[in-house]
Amino acid sequence: MSNIVIIGAQWGDEGKGKIVDLMSEKADVVIRFQGGNNAGHTLVIDGVTYKVALLPSGIVRGKMSVIGNGVVVDPLALREEMDRMAALGVKITPDTLKVSELATLILPLHRELDKMSEEAAGKGKIGTTGRGIGPAYQDKVARRAIRVGDLAEKETLEAKVDNLLLFHNALRKGMGQPAVDKAELMKTLDEAAKIILPFAVPAWKVLDEQIKAGKTLLFEGAQATMLDNDFGTYPFVTSSNTIAGQAAVGSGVGMRSIDKVIGVVKAYTTRVGAGPFPTELFDATGDAIRDAGHEYGTNTGRPRRCGWFDAVLVRQALKVNGVQSLAVMKLDILDQFDEIKVCVGYELDGKKLDYYPMQMNAQASVKPVYETLPGWKSSTYGIRDFAKLPEKAQSYLRRLEELLETEISFISTSPEREDTIVLGNPYGK
Ligand code: IMP
Repeated sequence: MSNIVIIGAQWGDEGKGKIVDLMSEKADVVIRFQGGNNAGHTLVIDGVTYKVALLPSGIVRGKMSVIGNGVVVDPLALREEMDRMAALGVKITPDTLKVSELATLILPLHRELDKMSEEAAGKGKIGTTGRGIGPAYQDKVARRAIRVGDLAEKETLEAKVDNLLLFHNALRKGMGQPAVDKAELMKTLDEAAKIILPFAVPAWKVLDEQIKAGKTLLFEGAQATMLDNDFGTYPFVTSSNTIAGQAAVGSGVGMRSIDKVIGVVKAYTTRVGAGPFPTELFDATGDAIRDAGHEYGTNTGRPRRCGWFDAVLVRQALKVNGVQSLAVMKLDILDQFDEIKVCVGYELDGKKLDYYPMQMNAQASVKPVYETLPGWKSSTYGIRDFAKLPEKAQSYLRRLEELLETEISFISTSPEREDTIVLGNPYGK
């Protein structure tokens, strides 16, 4: 297998976990390169459901799993997740889990600030996961973050904490909140050191050694392109770059060691949290998609907003990632519909657009131009062979390929990993 990056091409929750799991069987190392425990990847293996948030999905299969420097790590959440995995029989050791010592820590003050900022924003809130992701990245960029490796150097840690609190206490004062209890924070950091230091390594070096040994790497994207801090529906986005280019930056692996990018989409669209969503459905069809697709957040349980497939948005996403091949998930959820719509363009103030504009008002007011395709009205659940799909389902997929200018390599017809149609050789270069 070649070294592959897997990214989401919509607003997240596309089903990347299943594709990563399929591929991780063939890969030697699975790497997270951005985000944190705001992600929620569900894997179903032999009827057992595993939900990972911060840990790379490869951990479930005992693969070397790397949390790269681009990730923000909440040590307490990491411990909880490791305990949950242990209860399901997943063994995690310093041989299987490697955490970059350059990764930024999420502290309780970040989680608090995430919630306070959302409350203060009122109607303008982003609808974050409340995990402290944004505030931790803000500290990283502002050069006051505490990083995993800092926990090993006790003599400089307190000065780092003082510097961090200088900013946070001033901010909290302005927001009418009590100052951070420094002694309490030092205790948390002590605990964090015990949890995380056994796994802390210069991950770039570990990965270099793996590459030299001819091992194959799988980069597991979290969130998705429309939540990317640059290319997404800003400001309704996450605080990291989620696109494939980040795989190199967020892991310390040179770009030339990455061979291929695979994009994952649902056969329709969903979004959690606030922000524009041109093809959103507010009617019984939207409810039917939500019910059939069990569209509720893996992590937060929030109902997801549902709508038709937006080929304009996805085509844009595929371009900025350099996606070579596509996985289409949850095809079976569309089985029930008489007609299926696909957005093929937008209209704004009487003008036609073939891309999604960047201005907030424009993003909220574009009208999708739909193409209507006939539904297949029969079950595709569990089909593993393209030729066995109803003809109209085949046509739907072929039309998506045309609109997206990208070939489809995987079609998923149930949560079970075996219920996947594989076309061509997506594992090769
Ligand atoms: P944050 O990442 O918690 O700051 O949230 C920012 C936005 O990204 C919100 O709209 C979240 O709902 C969304 N988001 C973050 N992580 C995920 C994910 O893994 N799947 C889907 N949406 C996500």
